[in-house]
Amino acid sequence: MKSQNELGVPIPVSKPLVVRTIKEVTKAQREYALEKTEYNMFSFPADLLFLDFLSDSGAGTMTDLQWATLFHGDESYGRNKGYYVLLDAVRDIFERGDHPKRVINLIISGETDTKKLMDELYLTSYEGGFVNGGVHQLSHPNTFIVPQGRCAEYLLFSTIAPILREKDPNKKYYIPNNGHFDTTEANIAANSIYPVNLFSTNLMDEFPFDQMDKRNPFKGNMDLNELEKLIQEKGADSIPLIYITITNNTAAGQPVSMNNIKKVQKIAKKYDLPLFFDACRFAENAIFIKEFEEGYQDHSIPSIVQEMFSYVDGFTISFKKGLANIGGGLFFKDRGIFHKKFSTKEDIGILLKEKQILTFGNDSYGGMSGRDIIALASSIYETVDLNSLRRRIFLVREFARKLAENAVPVILPAGGHAVYLNMDKFFEGIDMKIDDFGGIGFTIELLKHYGIRACELGPFAFEWDKKTPEQRKSILNLVRFAIPWNAYNTSHIDYAVAAITELYNNRKKIPKVKISRGAELRLRHFQTGLQPVYGD
Ligand code: F0G
Repeated sequence: MKSQNELGVPIPVSKPLVVRTIKEVTKAQREYALEKTEYNMFSFPADLLFLDFLSDSGAGTMTDLQWATLFHGDESYGRNKGYYVLLDAVRDIFERGDHPKRVINLIISGETDTKKLMDELYLTSYEGGFVNGGVHQLSHPNTFIVPQGRCAEYLLFSTIAPILREKDPNKKYYIPNNGHFDTTEANIAANSIYPVNLFSTNLMDEFPFDQMDKRNPFKGNMDLNELEKLIQEKGADSIPLIYITITNNTAAGQPVSMNNIKKVQKIAKKYDLPLFFDACRFAENAIFIKEFEEGYQDHSIPSIVQEMFSYVDGFTISFKKGLANIGGGLFFKDRGIFHKKFSTKEDIGILLKEKQILTFGNDSYGGMSGRDIIALASSIYETVDLNSLRRRIFLVREFARKLAENAVPVILPAGGHAVYLNMDKFFEGIDMKIDDFGGIGFTIELLKHYGIRACELGPFAFEWDKKTPEQRKSILNLVRFAIPWNAYNTSHIDYAVAAITELYNNRKKIPKVKISRGAELRLRHFQTGLQPVYGD
């Protein structure tokens, strides 16, 4: 008799306690709604969908523990109790590895010992890490809570750009990344800095789907040769910082190996450059390292996360990609390279804090409600739970495997949070040019016929028609199916696979798409009107 672990399917790790009924919507109703919303995926009413793979951002199902913690939320304007809990949760997860303090338990358990609360939570002092505490957070701030990831990006780039310009108004600055997300890219470009993508050279290599449980080529890595080349060509003083996105969302959600992170850090150190993570999906990245990188099989997820973050000088993060529905932050090492480099006239932390207060609210809530802050703190612990991560990775992998078995061109191996179709291959041999936006045509048809929403991350989203031939080289032609945490199970995946396969088999009927309104808008995929053009 096989043991429970030998059955070849994962042991269930959760069960839903709240059920939301999906509405019955006809194809004709969806067609009408598509027309009314200018065929833009982001404008389509979510309540009329069967399945929504537009994003995993903020769309996850909260756990019973998070709901329970949410009731402890404190809406005080100054220093709500969740602020202290969140700051210490960040220390626990990103710095303390296998030795968390979990002071959150003082709140959840209803601790009434005032001295204990003062000594262990409210009046503790920290310095030297990513999260100064007490008076140190005031005299040299390094922690900035904001509503979501792009706010942290805005805060960072809009604050460093004037400092760079003051140093040399005519200099061109470049920020390399293993793959900038669109908001990161846009926030950098909006501050007249050049974002540069250094994708791994093996990204589009073939990979056999039956090997996905056995090995992983870490296609999310940064191209180290190109990084050295860029620094040499432009000069280290033209690179304000280096960014690594974990996992690499723009590069098909692929993970980054610890070895690659270490090597990038070595290069950053050599040139005295700050290294930052775009850390949205740090937990998914950690499980890939545990599963597939030599030497890490016996390491816990928290210890892997701790090691990953020991190599960087700071990070921006959207907490919405984990189990929380809202939240983000900017963190940098107390008096590290970043702090030294950008504290030319004034302390960079003080400048960032001023801007945080001006734009999002005072530093203890940063634009979030007290309920959200404490629910977020509790979610960070659950995001690194090994069993939840295993289930998450299994579902994404199963989605990719089933598509591959049906010969649908899916990027393999599957990444951490989403499945990506390779639209160049999808339309191979068919009259569909890159600027016919076939990926958009596919998403329109998928929504119209089957009530499923996906997201084009290709020539339309990354604005092919507005870019130079050089810039076009870093645009991949993908459609993404992102899987929100704990929202879907195998039955949802099976319906999606059947629908996608049917459309693939009828790909000649997929329309080309014209932009009918707003082609010139920045971040246009959220705003433009579209029009499918059907052939005969
Ligand atoms: N960085 C990465 C890698 C992201 O995937 C996202 C968001 C952000 C930054 C910005 O965070 O949305 O909280 O402001 N990605 C979502 C997605 C929207 O669907 O991939 P945000």
